Amino acid sequence: MTTGAVATRPTSKGRPPGPRGHWLWGNLATFQADRLGFLRDIAKQYGGVVYLRFGYRQIWIVTEPSVIEQVLVTQAKQFRKHFALRLNPIVLGNGLLTSEGDFWLQQRRLAQPAFAKGQIAQYVPTFVEHTERMLNRWQAGENRDVLHEMMALTLGIASKTLFGADGDEHAELVRTALNVTQEEFVRRLAQPIQLPLWFPTAGNRRLVRAARDLDEIVYGFIRQRRASGEQRVDLLSRLLAARGEGNAGGMSDKQLRDECLTIFLAGQETTALALSWTWYLLGQSPEAAKRVYAEVDTVLQGRTPTMDDLPQLKETESMLLESMRLYPPAFIVGREALVDTEVAGYPCRRGTTILMPETVVHRDPRYFDRPDDFVPERWRNDFEKSLPHCAYFPFGAGPRICIGNTFAMMEMTLALAMIAQRFQFTLDPGQNITMGVQFTLRPKPGVMTTLTPR
Ligand code: HEM
Repeated sequence: MTTGAVATRPTSKGRPPGPRGHWLWGNLATFQADRLGFLRDIAKQYGGVVYLRFGYRQIWIVTEPSVIEQVLVTQAKQFRKHFALRLNPIVLGNGLLTSEGDFWLQQRRLAQPAFAKGQIAQYVPTFVEHTERMLNRWQAGENRDVLHEMMALTLGIASKTLFGADGDEHAELVRTALNVTQEEFVRRLAQPIQLPLWFPTAGNRRLVRAARDLDEIVYGFIRQRRASGEQRVDLLSRLLAARGEGNAGGMSDKQLRDECLTIFLAGQETTALALSWTWYLLGQSPEAAKRVYAEVDTVLQGRTPTMDDLPQLKETESMLLESMRLYPPAFIVGREALVDTEVAGYPCRRGTTILMPETVVHRDPRYFDRPDDFVPERWRNDFEKSLPHCAYFPFGAGPRICIGNTFAMMEMTLALAMIAQRFQFTLDPGQNITMGVQFTLRPKPGVMTTLTPR
């Protein structure tokens, strides 16, 4: 946790302070052994900007909000996404999350209208219908893993809102392929040397197979839609119709595939994780859970929610905000310097990787009283507006801020409210749930509950 101001003067070596590492691997092994604990400890010991080395890579860990703002917002043009995001080009391709420069900007402009509040309003019936279907399946007394349930819920919602796909035809294949993608990403991240994808290791073969499965499904949707010419209320139709400067003919199939898979990957799991962590926290905090029950009972009076109810579901929303403070699904944001520049007063060489761990920043006692506790009431009275920019950034910040943040907040608030109408947020006793660090932050091994109607 950052405890003091940033050192703004360069050290004698002209770089931020930091722990010594192994002569060859640098700090990689210590980082891999306990990533979250290591990041928290070095921020505490060395301050808001810390220098590390992973093999030949120079890594800065930045936890000071004003410096994060510098990297993500004010000097955003001097940075690109960090190397780890380029480890899996076969799945993400050149979609919004990984593309850069003018091409990214053009694609972002084309996709942005599809994520405007008014457009997302059209997906509200899908959010509600899928949540209702899940709740109708749930039986009192059943033992279920909330993480598994939320993954299935958001997979259904993502398939419908992106491709207009109903039913579970591809669900299992997609679930497996997404898991392989994550596992292989983490494995590649831990390797000091990256073997090219054509090299026939078991891991590479799994990844190539997963990408092929996903391709088949997504290209199938694209071809069907092009052939039918049908206009639907889904993101694929909007992306197909998107036209802009230098893009008079619309996106190619390959680009559509990259954007669709990126949106799917970026949006499905993160949302499920935030909902699962929120259940976990509410399960440990019956007082907070009672406030959610009271709010949904008063606002909804037993009926299904609509978009118009969202402004009244403030308690429910604050549970999600607090949950993403403690357990941010995308727990680290990273960048790489494109040019020699200066960050926090230090010379920052081209190629330097800057990692900004939300898990540390979101628990900084300078901004969050009782930083490790679940205190959803802190979000009342526009608390967020009182925070320095980038002290809380579950959706990132600056030009690359999450395009789906409004989508995610609406989806999650409605789902949480509907769950609270019907079931209690209970937890099976004796579970040891920890933070599983992959590409995202998962409750490990899951969140077991015995379904208890209210
Ligand atoms: C709780 C849910 C979510 C969280 C915590 C989250 C978090 C993030 C973060 C931190 C970034 C910025 C990454 C960076 O700057 O390097 C991001 C980008 C992105 N997110 Fe989300 N996200 C969520 C939901 C969604 C949803 C629902 C969608 C789509 C439907 C989505 C699509 C994207 C895309 C396409 C980008 C890349 C944007 C760009 O670079 O232009 N996300 N997300």
